Amino acid sequence: MMHDGRVALVTGAAGGIGRATAQRLAREGALLALVDRDDGVEQVAAQLRGAGAGCRAWVLDISDASAVHAAVEAVALSLGAVGILVNAAAIVDHIAPLTTMAPQAWMRELAVNLGGPFNLIQAVAPQMIGNGFGRIVNISSMAARGGLFRQAGYAASKTGLLGLTRNVTLELARNGITCNAVLPGLIATEKVMAMPQAIRAAGTAATPARRLGEPDEVAALISFLCSPEAGFINGAEIDISGGAHLNTLAMGSRKENAAEAGPAVPPGAQASS
Ligand SMILES: NC(=O)c1ccc[n+]([C@@H]2O[C@H](COP(=O)([O-])OP(=O)(O)OC[C@H]3O[C@@H](n4cnc5c(N)ncnc54)[C@H](O)[C@@H]3O)[C@@H](O)[C@H]2O)c1
Repeated sequence: MMHDGRVALVTGAAGGIGRATAQRLAREGALLALVDRDDGVEQVAAQLRGAGAGCRAWVLDISDASAVHAAVEAVALSLGAVGILVNAAAIVDHIAPLTTMAPQAWMRELAVNLGGPFNLIQAVAPQMIGNGFGRIVNISSMAARGGLFRQAGYAASKTGLLGLTRNVTLELARNGITCNAVLPGLIATEKVMAMPQAIRAAGTAATPARRLGEPDEVAALISFLCSPEAGFINGAEIDISGGAHLNTLAMGSRKENAAEAGPAVPPGAQASS
């Protein structure tokens, strides 16, 4: 199997994309170390163990550097040296105009969404260097390209994550380590599906594929980037957005554009036809 015997640490594993990634890596042979501040991650770990995977969970805040370093040491003792790191944990809930945004909220988004991946990378790097192999995937966002209205902290942290990705490549590629960023558009996680329908409809209309992405579509991309075969893909920024990262402005209004296209082709339909 693609990840046979590798130890994969996935943060944000209680959430939509992190959980789908953990499930896919486990199906493909990896041993899983799951991290989240939400103790629901214990349940995800129990499900994976029930399905026969080697898996343990750690409940912690990734912005706490000493907790991260202690957990990574514990992972090495209980499962083995980390070979794969997927930074999926993030907060996305602070919405405020730039002019009145609370500085503490801004700092918190940078501390979790950018400081968290930094802490994890610093903690696992010695183990990866020791083994001459490492795969790091940072989940950024389409917001890193175009900003996100009234979510300056989130957008800036996700753009910063691209800068961190580049530097990891520059400094660690010679050690057999790759570090890449994936930039999802709107993905149908529980959180997104709980948003008001009008927001999802606007997101779908601005997406050339005219549908939301599925968590497992993001997981499939991440899994490939974590495979031995992806060893020469390094410092890349890969959009997975149904084309939504492109300029969707057209001479007609967005409403007309949305109406003009037929129904979206469901995910996976091309593969089965
Ligand atoms: N869902 C989307 O449409 C979408 C779009 C673009 C980018 N993304 C990115 O994909 C990643 C996963 O998103 P998701 O949709 O699965 O989100 P989610 O909210 O479902 O999951 C995020 C997880 O991170 C955890 N987390 C948050 N702060 C933490 C902290 N300080 N320490 C430890 N864990 C913490 C949460 O508890 C949660 O389980 C995020 O980085 C997000 O920014 C998602």
